[in-house]
Amino acid sequence: MSDSNKILITGGAGFIGSHLVRLMVDKYPNYHIYNLDALTYAGNLENLKAVENKDNYTFLHGDICDKNYLEEIFSKYQFDGVIHLAAESHVDRSIEDPDAFAITNVIGTLNLLNACKKHWLDLKDKRFYNVSTDEVYGSLGDTGLFSEDTSYDPRSPYSASKASADHFVRAYFHTYNLPIVISNCSNNYGPEQFPEKLIPLMINNIKKKIELPVYGEGTNVRDWLWVTDHAQAIDLIYHQGKTGETYNIGGNNEWTNIDLVKKLCAIMDQKLNREEGESEKLIRFVKDRAGHDKRYAIDASKIKNELGWEPSIAFDEGFEKTVDWYLHNEKWMEKIISGAYKAYYTKQYKNR
Ligand code: NAD
Ligand code: DAU
Repeated sequence: MSDSNKILITGGAGFIGSHLVRLMVDKYPNYHIYNLDALTYAGNLENLKAVENKDNYTFLHGDICDKNYLEEIFSKYQFDGVIHLAAESHVDRSIEDPDAFAITNVIGTLNLLNACKKHWLDLKDKRFYNVSTDEVYGSLGDTGLFSEDTSYDPRSPYSASKASADHFVRAYFHTYNLPIVISNCSNNYGPEQFPEKLIPLMINNIKKKIELPVYGEGTNVRDWLWVTDHAQAIDLIYHQGKTGETYNIGGNNEWTNIDLVKKLCAIMDQKLNREEGESEKLIRFVKDRAGHDKRYAIDASKIKNELGWEPSIAFDEGFEKTVDWYLHNEKWMEKIISGAYKAYYTKQYKNR
């Protein structure tokens, strides 16, 4: 697509956003990357230390729900493109507090679309990229894959809010010709993921010999993708994806939760010099997540055939790198657990 060079990335202090910001700041020294983030419990500027002093990077502390702030920064910086990741992202939290998800994920997205519509009088070389999830497609049985043509069937307040945002994004393309593109990705794993999510939560618990809460019978299936591969796919779609199109992104890497947790236990027994099988004894089957989607799996043939993207690293390699990162970055984890996250963390465990 374009040679747009003033790009607004929203949610750049979060897990995927920080990987994307670092990638783009380094790869495109001639671009200017603006990172708009409200620094909710999930935002962490430590993830951006590597780029914070770079000339082509600016952090903007603000909320996508604040229309006045959006007006101010769109007027001031005249962005050429937006890559939108800011969101409430955790399904369990959405079950407890759906409103927060509607406000940030739906209204926040709408505010950004309106700001683009107002400020992009010449639509040439502009792009609004909505980073979405495979959860909008609902839940699969034992077979089948989500393709770009699968009907939306969201089942959690989180996925309903992301589906709604996708619908608004497409509506702005059809109604106002806003040049948009959307991607729907499977579960990401890697360094700097907030430890409410399965993999970092289990790594932390195994290390501290805390029980490992596996929801239901542990038979739900997720398709795991290395986070840098997602960031690279976003970069590719932003530059080469076709306007108005959707691209599914996945790792072709399905695991039941219980097999994944057992694999993690085995790796960590080795790394922590524990007896084989020791960490597995920490596994506890707990009350299932309400409305727990059974299986997600992605058909990523469109992005492979049209843009040449494929996951770059094998799961064994990425998984081991992930475990090593969390083991070598104890302070990162402790800071989070002793801070804003603590109240939620404690509450969850009381309820189970
Ligand atoms: P995250 O929770 O780690 O980060 C979200 C970021 O958004 C945080 O930095 C937070 O401070 C910021 N934010 C939240 N509300 C905001 C607001 N109102 N204004 C400005 N900033 C705000 O999330 P993540 O896992 O990195 O996911 C990023 C995006 O990718 C989300 O849109 C999510 O739906 C999507 N996604 C995630 C995955 C995954 O596996 N994590 C997979 C597919 C798609
Ligand atoms: O599929 C993409 C989605 O993946 C993203 O859109 C979401 O933002 C992201 O959070 C993720 O959603 P999941 O609900 O799949 O991820 P989570 O890490 O919360 O859970 C993964 C699986 O593990 C899920 O089946 C629930 C289960 N689980 C989770 C936790 C936190 C447990 O069994 N125990 C747990 O303690």
